[in-house]
Amino acid sequence: MPAGVDNLERLEEEACREIAAAASLQALTEVRARYLGKKGSVAEVLRGIGDLAGDQRARIGQLANSAKRRIEMVVSERRRALERGQRDRTLGAERLDITLPGAEEPRAGHLHPVTRVFRDMVEFFTSMGFSIEEGPEVETEYHSFEALNIPKLHPARDEQDTFYVEGGNALRPHTSNVQIRTMTGRTPPFRFIAPGRVYRHDLSPRHYPMFHQIEGFLVDERVTFADLKGVLHAFGRHLMSDDIELRFRANHFPFTEPSAEMDYGCLLCERKGCGICSNSGWIEWGGCGMIHPQVLENCGIDPDRYQGFAFGMGVDRTALLRYGIPDIRLLFEGDLRVLEQV
Ligand code: PHE
Repeated sequence: MPAGVDNLERLEEEACREIAAAASLQALTEVRARYLGKKGSVAEVLRGIGDLAGDQRARIGQLANSAKRRIEMVVSERRRALERGQRDRTLGAERLDITLPGAEEPRAGHLHPVTRVFRDMVEFFTSMGFSIEEGPEVETEYHSFEALNIPKLHPARDEQDTFYVEGGNALRPHTSNVQIRTMTGRTPPFRFIAPGRVYRHDLSPRHYPMFHQIEGFLVDERVTFADLKGVLHAFGRHLMSDDIELRFRANHFPFTEPSAEMDYGCLLCERKGCGICSNSGWIEWGGCGMIHPQVLENCGIDPDRYQGFAFGMGVDRTALLRYGIPDIRLLFEGDLRVLEQV
């Protein structure tokens, strides 16, 4: 048997042992290079066969080639095994049990107390056939004042009370601007509500520079103050309690005549007097009245044919009372410790 054959068999055996012992892909690459590389052992055997006789040369050449193929096969197998091992280790280390309960329960949000009161109010009025209107918060003096019969020198137009912005406009101090915007160019009958933000220079436990009002107005033939009282009573019963008591006190607004301030009987003390109602038994709710003929005329509506009523009330105070929040500022600071209790 020619020496080459022996050599090749030994080589193959050694290669297989080393391949099996290669503990990493890197080590395996090195073993492979040592046997199958350009300067590797098999190549060396092949280089040596030049000196052999023709028939031997062919035989050894064949054997060397099949040894090469077998080693290559063993290397691939080992490579696959090493790769599998590595993947299993990684998967083991990164094992994630998605069925375990979370460390913290996801927090569900909820609507802001003012939004809830607004929605409740809107629901009542839409069920009564009122439609919703909106107006701009940066408003012209015409829509906030002039058209509402509030003359230039009226104290409500004082810079102490109203936030003016450049160009003679102002942040609207009430939602009554929507009356003008909505009535102008429309023919009665109609009934609208206008919920929204309003702005005034004010800051105290009961006042905030931005707060919310809901305005309501209805215009038709033969509308009376009794209609206004009926709607507000039904509203109070829906919003607060079937036992609600309302009180109307004569007042003055330039855009209504007659005008009234309305209060409702404190539900906490049943009008006996408590901290919430400042011991008076009554809580201020808003202003109302019959729309001034001049305002109707300013909007192009014939006051001899049509009458209307209007009312406007604060929304935030209702939220404070309903949810037992002691200070209006807590509503707008966005402190979750407070809002989460609501
Ligand atoms: N706009 C008045 C206010 O802000 C409220 C009001 C509205 C009064 C409609 C009468 C009619 O105080």
